[in-house]
Amino acid sequence: MAVSAVSAPRVDGLAQHTVDIRQQDCIAFLRSLPDASVDLIVTDPAYSGMNQHMQFGHGRIVGHYRQPGNARWFAEFSDDPDTYRTFLAECRRVLRDHRHIYIMFDSFSLLSLGALVREFFDVKCVIVWDKVHLGMGHYFRRRHEQIVFASKGHRKLLRRDLPDVWTVQRLHRRAYPTQKPVRLFELMLEASAEPGFVVCDPFCGSGSAAVAALRAGCDFTGADSDARAVTLARSRCDAVLSSGEDPLERLPSRA
Ligand SMILES: C[S@@+](CC[C@H](N)C(=O)[O-])C[C@H]1O[C@@H](n2cnc3c(N)ncnc32)[C@H](O)[C@@H]1O
Repeated sequence: MAVSAVSAPRVDGLAQHTVDIRQQDCIAFLRSLPDASVDLIVTDPAYSGMNQHMQFGHGRIVGHYRQPGNARWFAEFSDDPDTYRTFLAECRRVLRDHRHIYIMFDSFSLLSLGALVREFFDVKCVIVWDKVHLGMGHYFRRRHEQIVFASKGHRKLLRRDLPDVWTVQRLHRRAYPTQKPVRLFELMLEASAEPGFVVCDPFCGSGSAAVAALRAGCDFTGADSDARAVTLARSRCDAVLSSGEDPLERLPSRA
């Protein structure tokens, strides 16, 4: 079953929802939040492992993570288990009881870090994001990523008709190098968020999760260590709040 349908934005009442996006390291950001203050975490960390794995030749990085002058577009989150455990412990602390968390993984990081999620949350399943079109890869070319779905306490899904393979086309024209389709986050919210929930993404990038949160009638709190990401995400949310239109993903091109 494909789940690539686009849901229409809910313009009514959008302006009454709050968005708080800070330029901050994910762990510092989470530490600044009170205990049990968010209702749903949906996040897409910038793991360093895959890029280190993909370095070849003279240290060339495959992909879009560079800007002129050889510097990468943005910092990556250290893949060491201690840092990741600290991140997960903070996620658990800020999440209310009986709530869900979705964490995106590339294949490399899923094998190195994915099992650690079990130390902090009750892992329910791994969802496959089928991007439809082929990406890069030295052996089999990559077409999917994974999303670990877990809970803190017990909570039923709001939708019981969703498969664990989500067919959502990758974005070809992106304003931000790792910008994900809003539809991915919409599916997470359709399954796990009630209107009025506080949705949190500590690696918010261009703000795709924030757009999904606003459209679902939720508040959003998030962070990114990169100033350009924060500027982009804030202006994107301003546009969605004022007009209902997402300037980075126009609806006709999202089918
Ligand atoms: C995979 S991208 C997120 C993309 C986002 N989901 C979107 O749709 O635009 C990961 C983001 O994490 C940010 N980042 C890297 N290290 C970070 C850290 N230590 N704390 C917070 N953000 C960090 C990067 O700047 C990047 O924007």
